[in-house]
Amino acid sequence: MTRVLVMNGPNLGRLGIREPDVYGSTSFDELAKQCREAGRDLGLAVEVRQTDDESELVRWLHEAADSGVPVVLNPAAFTHYSYAVRDACAQLTAPLIEVHLSNPAAREAFRHTSVIAGVATGTIAGFGTDSYLLALRAVATLVSGR
Ligand code: DQA
Repeated sequence: MTRVLVMNGPNLGRLGIREPDVYGSTSFDELAKQCREAGRDLGLAVEVRQTDDESELVRWLHEAADSGVPVVLNPAAFTHYSYAVRDACAQLTAPLIEVHLSNPAAREAFRHTSVIAGVATGTIAGFGTDSYLLALRAVATLVSGR
């Protein structure tokens, strides 16, 4: 089974409680379970992590780079300004799918810039928790070489 790391940045641990009108009512634990289950159906061993700490996220990305593991990343607010996360993403050798629950392009101006998008294989945004499931499908397709 191909291993996939699903990484989540700040405030995403509060899914379900945090601005449910924007991010939905699904909790982070439920999202993690859905990702693992979808992964099993796609032949992927999915590990889901969340951190509010930029340096921890950078360390996890180095780990993924060193082990050649595909990454699904919701960088959360780091999307818009973290060159440290962007530079860590640039070191990945396997596919990187950037995901967002909401559609940042349809929100406040500061969310219209992603410093991550330029080093991602692709971006999926605006489909709520389905964004993650679509990203895992994309990873499965990419690693199968179809
Ligand atoms: C988000 C969008 C970001 O602008 C925001 O800072 C988040 C969540 C999303 O999933 O829609 O924390 O990445």
